[in-house]
Amino acid sequence: GPGLHARAAAKGLMFGAALNTGQLAEPDTTAAIRAECGLLVAEYEMKWDQVEPSRGDRRFRLPDRLMEFARVNRMAMRGHTLVWHESDPPWMGRLDARGLANAMQDHIEATVGRWRGRVGTWDVVNEAVRAEDGRVDWLRRTRMLEVLGPDYIPAAFRAARTADPAARLAYNDFGCEHATVAARRKRMGVLALLRGLKRAGAPLDVLGVQAHLQAGQPFAADEWQDFLSDVAELGLTIEVTELDVNDRALPADVAARDAGSADLVRRFLEATLAQRAVRAVVTWGLSDRHSWVHAGRLPEHRRRDSARARPLPLDDAMRRKPM
Ligand code: XIL
Repeated sequence: GPGLHARAAAKGLMFGAALNTGQLAEPDTTAAIRAECGLLVAEYEMKWDQVEPSRGDRRFRLPDRLMEFARVNRMAMRGHTLVWHESDPPWMGRLDARGLANAMQDHIEATVGRWRGRVGTWDVVNEAVRAEDGRVDWLRRTRMLEVLGPDYIPAAFRAARTADPAARLAYNDFGCEHATVAARRKRMGVLALLRGLKRAGAPLDVLGVQAHLQAGQPFAADEWQDFLSDVAELGLTIEVTELDVNDRALPADVAARDAGSADLVRRFLEATLAQRAVRAVVTWGLSDRHSWVHAGRLPEHRRRDSARARPLPLDDAMRRKPM
């Protein structure tokens, strides 16, 4: 049948996936990407520690190859991600406030400027809200927050807007999707941040919902849709940016596992796509061969079962799964 992007486009949506340059050497992977995707995002090769391994030493060779692959295949690109505590370059630790503010400004100018006019949406700030105990101001205690204070967030958005006025600018985060106490807190924190940015006049256009779904955790369409409406009312559009299913809690049997994750994704997407502000769905990898879920947070021997994770829409052999 038609590829996922063709089906999405028929409904005014985009579909795509994360990839890295290593995958460009696999003909079955590139064929599957061409068949299914209209939108691509670098899984890590645009992150700050990758593009500026030491101060002022910029390396764009790998992300340039991804941009070129997208161009020849007439696909759109997302930019991911300018400021994220997990990709802070190690040299950042030596900078004082002025040095860090300058480094962030230079990084955004150089990185966004590199592909000016060619990136549809940039994830400007990633995962700045903490879910765990967000009572004080909801912001994660990152190096950026510690040294620059909360203004690093609007400053990053302003720098990105200047560097590419045509790009749509996103705040991107995880952990909002399920019907759990932690996700309810996280949604409150994310909404508080988005409202504050809007009130301060920051150039923010999009909320990215990562949607790293967890099989076995409850999902409630109504409370998820209430959250998406609150976001839409701020005048933002919404992109699903990193969809996959951690299926560790599902039975090891492959058919049962695939049925379980497909059911969760169906319920999630039915609820999500009912919101008209949603514009795109991007999966974090396209096939199970390449999922970050395998790296996991638990060592293999401590996982509840030994079955290999099947988090994505295509299997290891690039065949479509029920998802
Ligand atoms: C992950 C990548 O998949 C890994 O390959 C990399 O080593 C670490 O980052 N949220 C995000 C993504 O926004 O950038 C993360 O990607 C997954 C969680």
